[in-house]
Amino acid sequence: MKVKQINANDTHELRHKMLRQGLPIDECVFKGDEDDQSFHLGAFVEGKLVSVASFYFDRNHDFDEPNQYRLRGMATSPDHQRKGLSQELLKMAFPIIKQNFCSLLWCNARSSAVGFYQKAGFEKMGEEFEIPTVGPHFLMYKKLG
Ligand SMILES: CC(C)(COP(=O)(O)OP(=O)(O)OC[C@H]1O[C@@H](n2cnc3c(N)ncnc32)[C@H](O)[C@@H]1OP(=O)(O)O)[C@@H](O)C(=O)NCCC(=O)NCCS
Repeated sequence: MKVKQINANDTHELRHKMLRQGLPIDECVFKGDEDDQSFHLGAFVEGKLVSVASFYFDRNHDFDEPNQYRLRGMATSPDHQRKGLSQELLKMAFPIIKQNFCSLLWCNARSSAVGFYQKAGFEKMGEEFEIPTVGPHFLMYKKLG
């Protein structure tokens, strides 16, 4: 397994399959994908991209930290789940975020994935809320020491 920085476009196939199934492919282009501070990571197994995650310099005013990153588009292909790939992507991302002088990473976590984020050290903030067409979520965050 290899973790590498990838282009935003490379994430589209997995985002579509795992996060936006049945929706137009345009829904897989996220705001800020091409911003200078954004970065995208991918895990490759036998040369095939099987897990992706994207990180954006994006402030959520529910948190006091002035400099924050947002995590989006975390997805692992079904036949490669629960093998630690997403965890590896996060491990590679944390120091990059810290190098950018940001000490907080937040995300809108699907309720079904809350356990994954908790294992990675994220905490829930507030009540469950609904994102239309996507489903129930929790705001979650991790402070990067
Ligand atoms: C959530 C998701 C990205 C996790 O990817 P993954 O590569 O399977 O995760 P990892 O293997 O790195 O998991 C790390 C740990 O979290 C656990 N875990 C993974 N998914 C979990 C879940 N949904 N609930 C609870 N724990 C979970 C793993 O068992 C593992 O635990 P361990 O360290 O004790 O073995 C993947 O299941 C996925 O693509 N789901 C569909 C899309 C989605 O919901 N994305 C998140 C949107 S917010």
